[in-house]
Amino acid sequence: MASLTVRQLDERLKKQLRLRAASNGRSVEDEVRNILREAAECAEMRAPVAPTPSGAGAIRSMVTADTRRVLLIIGGGIAAYKTLDLIRRLKERGIAVRCILTNAAQHFATPLSVSALVGARVYTDLFDPVSEFDVGHIRLARETDLIVVAPATADLMAKMANGHADDLATAVLLATTAKIVLAPAMNPHMWANKATQRNLARLVADGAAVVGPNEGEMAEAESQGVGRMAEPLEIAGAAEKFLTAGIAGRLQGRRILITSGPTHEPIDPVRYIANRSSGKQGHSIAAAAETEGGNVTLISGPVNLPDPPGVKMIKVESAREMLRAVERTLPVDVAIFAAAVADWRVANAGHHKLKKQFGHATPELALVENPDILATIAGRKTQRPKLVIGFAAETENVVANAKAKLARKHCDWILANDVSPQSGVMGGDHNTITLVRASSVEAWPPQSKDAVSSMLITRIADALDEKGENR
Ligand code: C5P
Repeated sequence: MASLTVRQLDERLKKQLRLRAASNGRSVEDEVRNILREAAECAEMRAPVAPTPSGAGAIRSMVTADTRRVLLIIGGGIAAYKTLDLIRRLKERGIAVRCILTNAAQHFATPLSVSALVGARVYTDLFDPVSEFDVGHIRLARETDLIVVAPATADLMAKMANGHADDLATAVLLATTAKIVLAPAMNPHMWANKATQRNLARLVADGAAVVGPNEGEMAEAESQGVGRMAEPLEIAGAAEKFLTAGIAGRLQGRRILITSGPTHEPIDPVRYIANRSSGKQGHSIAAAAETEGGNVTLISGPVNLPDPPGVKMIKVESAREMLRAVERTLPVDVAIFAAAVADWRVANAGHHKLKKQFGHATPELALVENPDILATIAGRKTQRPKLVIGFAAETENVVANAKAKLARKHCDWILANDVSPQSGVMGGDHNTITLVRASSVEAWPPQSKDAVSSMLITRIADALDEKGENR
């Protein structure tokens, strides 16, 4: 078809076309071409999938308007050959697949074999005149529900972590708002390298999910260790999970309780004992849990922060009020105790303001211990949440003290952080966390409190999925 003349357009439509073309900086002709192209691409994504040359009889042939779409970005590693099977596994699940191959990937899997399995053209070039005349990489980034990067090589992860966009794959990854799932694959030493782990932590904090790598034999002779790409079935399963969660959120149907802020322990009606907790971390966790679809109750001591939208707020002052509010909120699936609860309160808080009397001795405050809310809830015989998570604000021996606290308070995880004045954590916007569980210690990089929240929520969603608990 060389050209197309469209007649009988009414004036209103013509005007709309002219305006649209002008605002996109195109000629009217190019704009029409673009509209037709988008419609055709859309139809291609929604149309019945042709049986693949590999004779995958089990692949569902009809794709409906609510077909889920995955953009598979194939990186340049030996494991790229496994992505041919991954495409079949995704299509078996009724998922429409588009593919981008990086330059390096084309040494391991050819565009021809990938396109034969996908049943459509594949994309390789950021400066492809056919697909880029209308900024096609933005379309690829937009028209997908999920991006899977497999194999996610060390180099591709480094580029992503640093926001590079010098080829089609990285430009699309930077331009997308879709969830990204990484399936890393590399030599075990490359995987263990601090730079890779730093990049990985950055990507996870930015919201990427990771499947694998697994432990086992590597492609190189006599090489063994962690670095094998997850199997296609595992990756397809993870993709399916995120596609489902993308609609509802990974904490959909989960009840999440979070404590936040300091407590104020009265000395008399106008004075109190407090601490420097700002509530920023606890409030940020509540917001992240809500964004992920959780049914969130935030029980907070006095803070100067706005209530996170969509959460149920309960505002309290003292530790004992906080404990009562927590107990009334049970049962929940997950309880996260981020509040800096005062360890002691004044034994006999005065009902009247203490008066300074000249010639009299300075009053002495007798302190009694407050209830430990975390330990109380973690030790419950009934209605104990599936996951009880505490924080350990320490100024020295952070991990050792956190481990001791985990055992003493019978909670499941402790997020330990250094709150010595030079750390700037108290009241600041950054935090450096070590996640201590009975079986593992995981050091997270220094990052914003929001990034800590998103990492924590991902870990919680993974743990609940692993437990396979009903919602
Ligand atoms: O013992 P420590 O105060 O370091 O423990 C910190 C953890 O215990 C935090 O998760 C905090 O919210 C919780 N905690 C509590 N009730 C207390 C003291 C601490 O829930 N009275």
